[in-house]
Parts: sequence; structure tokens; C-alpha cells
Amino acid sequence: MTKALATVAILLWVVTALAAGFFFVKGRAISSPDGRTAVLLSRTERDFVLAEMRMMLASVQEITQALSQADYARAAQAARSASRHDAARIPIGLMAKMPLEFRSAGRSMHEGFDDMANAMEQRGALPDLYGKLADQLGACVGCHASYKIELEQ
Ligand code: HEC
Repeated sequence: MTKALATVAILLWVVTALAAGFFFVKGRAISSPDGRTAVLLSRTERDFVLAEMRMMLASVQEITQALSQADYARAAQAARSASRHDAARIPIGLMAKMPLEFRSAGRSMHEGFDDMANAMEQRGALPDLYGKLADQLGACVGCHASYKIELEQ
């Protein structure tokens, strides 16, 4: 009897661990008719993500303008502000809903901006700096081609 209970307990534990692992990787996402993966978020979470996106677009605009005037300090500052990621502001539960790949694309995006800020502070050659910006924009394009946001029901 005790042995049977122990087996059931272990089985339940394994199932829970597998489910947790599954959701950790998959997040809350469904496939969308347009071929992208739709991440399902609440209205607040979606607004948070979209506000971050608009902030990144504004930074990219400022970086481009500053670089065109060879203003390295301003470009670096704009890249640094885009890389700044205040984990404490992320709504509770949002992290768990984002698929693993989406989360890591987001993380490498922030690292890319940091990398750019460093290169700008060191006054790297302009073609190299524009190259880094182009790579960074490539990552924006890549993620937008694969993911969208839909409101959860
Ligand atoms: C990890 C994935 C990911 C990365 C990286 C990413 N985005 Fe987004 N972005 C999204 C998703 C998902 C949406 C919502 C699109 C949808 O629902 O169709 C979005 C939406 C946006 C929007 C629309 C905001 C609004 O208010 O509607 C802008 C602007 C934007 N992104 C800019 C950027 C820029 C600029 C970059 C790169 C510097 C970037 N994004 C990188 C996933 C990403």
C-alpha cells in the first residue's frame, strides 16, 4: 500500500515536472493562420511589451540620427537606454507566458544594444557601427516575422 502510494506520488511529481518544463519552453502560445506564433497575453502584458517595442524603435531612430552626425556620445546613450532592462517592472506572469525562444531573442536584443553602446563609446568606425545597427534591426525583423501577440480569452 505504502509502496503503491509512493509510486503514485513519484509519478505525479514526474508529470508535474514534465508539465512545468513543457510550459517553460512553450510559454502560452498558439499557431496563427498567418504562419506566425501568437503569444497569448493579457491586455496589461501586451501593452507593456508594445510600450517596450516603441521605446526600442525610438532608440533606433535616435541612434541613426546621432550616427549620421557622428555624435558617438548621443548614439551610445541611446543604445544604452534601449539595453536597459528593468526586470522588476515586468508584469508578474509575463515571463512564464513567453516561449523560451521568444525570451532568449528578447535577451540577446538587449545584449546587442549594450554591445553597440560599448562600440560607440570606443568610437568604432562608422561602417562597423552601422553594421551592428543593421544586425540589430535584422533581429527585430526576424522576431516580427515569427511572432505576434494576441489577447488571451
Ligand atoms: C523577441 C521578439 C521581438 C523582438 C526581438 C522585437 N520585437 Fe517588436 N514586436 C514583437 C511582437 C510579438 C510585436 C507585436 C506584433 C503583432 O502582434 O503583430 C511587436 C511589435 C512592435 C512594434 C509595434 C508597437 C505597437 O505599439 O503596436 C514596434 C514599433 C516594434 N515591435 C519595434 C521593434 C524594434 C525596433 C525592434 C528591434 C530593435 C523589435 N521590435 C524587436 C516582438 C519582437
